[in-house]
Amino acid sequence: MQASAFVLFGATGDLAKRKIFPALYNLYLEGKLPDRFAVFALGRKPFNDDLFRLHIAESLGRFSRKGGQNASAIADFTASIQYLTMDAYDPKSYLRLKIAVERREAELGLPGNRLFYLSVAPEHFGPIALHIRESGLGDAAGGARLIIEKPFGRDLASARSLNEALSQAFPPEDIFYIDHYLGKPMVQNLQALIASNPVLKAVLNNHYVANVQITASETVGVEERAGYYDKAGALRDMFQNHMLQLLMMTARHSEVYDKRKIIDSAYPVAKEEAAHHVVLGQYVSGRLDGREMAGYREEPGVDPQSVTETYAAARLTLDDPIWRGVPFYIRTGKRLSEKSTRIVVVFKDPMERHTSDQPARNYLIVHIQPDQSVDFQLNLHGLNGEIQPVQLHFASDAAEVPEAYELLLYDALRGDATFFAHWDEIELSWKWMQPILDAIEEGLVPLHDYPAGSLGPPAADRLLAEQGFAWVENDHGRALEPAVAGEQGTEKTRKEVAIG
Ligand code: BG6
Repeated sequence: MQASAFVLFGATGDLAKRKIFPALYNLYLEGKLPDRFAVFALGRKPFNDDLFRLHIAESLGRFSRKGGQNASAIADFTASIQYLTMDAYDPKSYLRLKIAVERREAELGLPGNRLFYLSVAPEHFGPIALHIRESGLGDAAGGARLIIEKPFGRDLASARSLNEALSQAFPPEDIFYIDHYLGKPMVQNLQALIASNPVLKAVLNNHYVANVQITASETVGVEERAGYYDKAGALRDMFQNHMLQLLMMTARHSEVYDKRKIIDSAYPVAKEEAAHHVVLGQYVSGRLDGREMAGYREEPGVDPQSVTETYAAARLTLDDPIWRGVPFYIRTGKRLSEKSTRIVVVFKDPMERHTSDQPARNYLIVHIQPDQSVDFQLNLHGLNGEIQPVQLHFASDAAEVPEAYELLLYDALRGDATFFAHWDEIELSWKWMQPILDAIEEGLVPLHDYPAGSLGPPAADRLLAEQGFAWVENDHGRALEPAVAGEQGTEKTRKEVAIG
């Protein structure tokens, strides 16, 4: 890995404190940073280097998975950080920054390999990128890359203008769009899991799979982010990016490996049909973990009349040789009963089910978080002749698993864009979502209530029930009962072919 300069805009923000600095520190402890490495932390607040280093040392203790006990390592790591007060709209600030970066590069003998990370509100992405280019900061001898965080626009048109603005400043191959779900180790392992198990490869297709369910449920509510979230909602905050990326990662296969082709193969949902394929919800007060929780509209900063969705579920089908006819059900929501991100593959049920002691369906469940495990449910015959569904369970040791940002920053430092979102995927995701957003704008999609601490609005069950299925709720290692999913029989399963 080349010695590098890491230039962080928004260095005093929450993401920097919780994720970016702890990730850099963990990489440093594991010897994964270049030997010569300089961090330029930029923000509006007037810190000096010492104060800022103290602030970072304190947050490493709180947020690094490696803890904050190793004082000498923390001192070594933070010594690589220089803080600069910056007005991101003032060209003079960029000239000062350029002088500081060049001076440090000369001191350390760095080849001028620069990584610019914009951890700032999206409206600043374009202008900052342009200032970087115009000031000459982007003309580094060893190359310059730009990392940005979502949201990448708020609809198809604004995403396209953002991309245009960024493209004026950086060539597309040097723009790294972070989707931190792509940095989650189990998501990165999906392909290896399938590729290294021919038995899985053989059954993950429309001959054997009845449906695929992708869930990202959260217990947190809107927290202190009402200003952003009330304008975004679950579709823009989670669905367009994380959930559709999970879909692409799950559905790609050896014949169609390119994620772009997967999302491009999703049957478009027409505006008039959006309410049929999408269910939206908003949490009202309820109990979660024994505590009374306020409803979304009562949360600080939220418009008391808000119609922003905090839950979204959708049904997608793909025009793809392997998946044609298999519905993908996707849902995400806040203030649900538990934190769980998982992919459940429900296999077809070839049994004529008359009694409940018959074999259950097979399931493949990939738990992405908080557990990182794979369960495969099979049926075993006990000695007494009874059929028992059992789950084969493989779990990795959470303490040893790197965080998403560590893996992604490590890749960005090496210039490896494999696990970053690519512009075409982002654009195609917005394209799929746009008629749905239009339908919502025109009041064509109802908003359902769901109590905090619940599984979401019961209306979301309809998306599956229409095809004879049911959501597979978290089983926590217990085998799923035979009657759990869509036991109205295989006939309904066949009808799904008509969907889309
Ligand atoms: C972020 C969203 O991108 O992802 C948040 O803006 C959400 O609203 C978060 O809470 C979830 O991330 P994770 O890694 O906790 O599942």
